[in-house]
Amino acid sequence: MTLTRFLIEQQRLNGTIPAQLRLLIEIVARTCKAISHSVNKGALGGVLGNHGTDNVQGEAQMKLDVLANEMVLDANEWGGHLAAMASEEMETIHLIPNRYPKGEYLLLFDPIDGSSNVDVDLSVGTIFSVLTAPDDASGRTVVESDFLQSGRRQVAAGYAIYGPQTLLVLTVGSGVYEFALDRELGSWVLITERLRIPSGKREFAINMSNQRHWSPAVRRYIDECLAGADGPREANFNMRWTGSMVADIHRILKRGGVFLYPWDGRDPKKPGKLRLMYEANPMGFLIEQAGGRATNGVTPILDVAPDALHQRIGVVMGDPAEVDRVAAYHDGDV
Ligand code: AHG
Ligand code: MN
Ligand code: MN
Ligand code: MN
Repeated sequence: MTLTRFLIEQQRLNGTIPAQLRLLIEIVARTCKAISHSVNKGALGGVLGNHGTDNVQGEAQMKLDVLANEMVLDANEWGGHLAAMASEEMETIHLIPNRYPKGEYLLLFDPIDGSSNVDVDLSVGTIFSVLTAPDDASGRTVVESDFLQSGRRQVAAGYAIYGPQTLLVLTVGSGVYEFALDRELGSWVLITERLRIPSGKREFAINMSNQRHWSPAVRRYIDECLAGADGPREANFNMRWTGSMVADIHRILKRGGVFLYPWDGRDPKKPGKLRLMYEANPMGFLIEQAGGRATNGVTPILDVAPDALHQRIGVVMGDPAEVDRVAAYHDGDV
């Protein structure tokens, strides 16, 4: 089954995908195909290396960060399904030009996630989140505060991962669906329906180099994983860290485990590295839809009321038993 047929049948069966949302998802999926093509060309396409500019995050932008950002903007401006867009790579929101009709949806995206991996040929991805513009926005110009909605209000979320395969993982609130790109036909083909996170996998993902900066609760949790079968967990744990949230979360959705990019004390002004609106919220929606848990270490990420477009947040997500254990250690009640 192709993505188009899946979306039409979901609308017929559940009524969860109105025509404008179906158009939005199809356009984003088509853009991810084009981004995958650029990623795969790499040096041969002249897309590697730094762009020579910094983004609002204070990060040096890669050429692909900027190229993919432009590709998403260009592909979504004219369709009449969007009120505005926001991205990791843009300081403020991008309005739909007056020459085009406007729609009810807000698209937030991380055009290339894991971009530090682009030049070393490791998997990277594109993350997207869809909100609905406030009712009163239809008669006025959309403003940044219209985007500041909690993750519970997402109507769709997903990512593409550009790895050995190119995959699209999507939810519209009725489960998680995985599609593989058939390059010969150019279509997204459904390969997994209602994906569920396997439980009990003894595997954690964290950047250990930050260990000295973690909270006592996170240090305790990781120390116990490292203590293995002789320690309080009475089990040996494995560790994986790819530097691309998309790759780590995809692995957890497929084989279980837990992902942590927790608050750390390196910069007390920053509650974490990952961004709430276009990394933690869409991934949190997918993880919850697959039967997992997603918190900031203590409370559900999707319940966090945003106060800034690019705000950061600590992230612990994956196997509910592991995520709940981290929260219990923060509460100090075990
Ligand atoms: P981005 O490339 O969109 O800026 O995101 C990178 C993020 C995330 O993908 C990954 O999990 C994390 O940065 C890795 O951070 P470290 O390099 O500090 O491990
Ligand atoms: Mn970045
Ligand atoms: Mn990212
Ligand atoms: Mn990015």
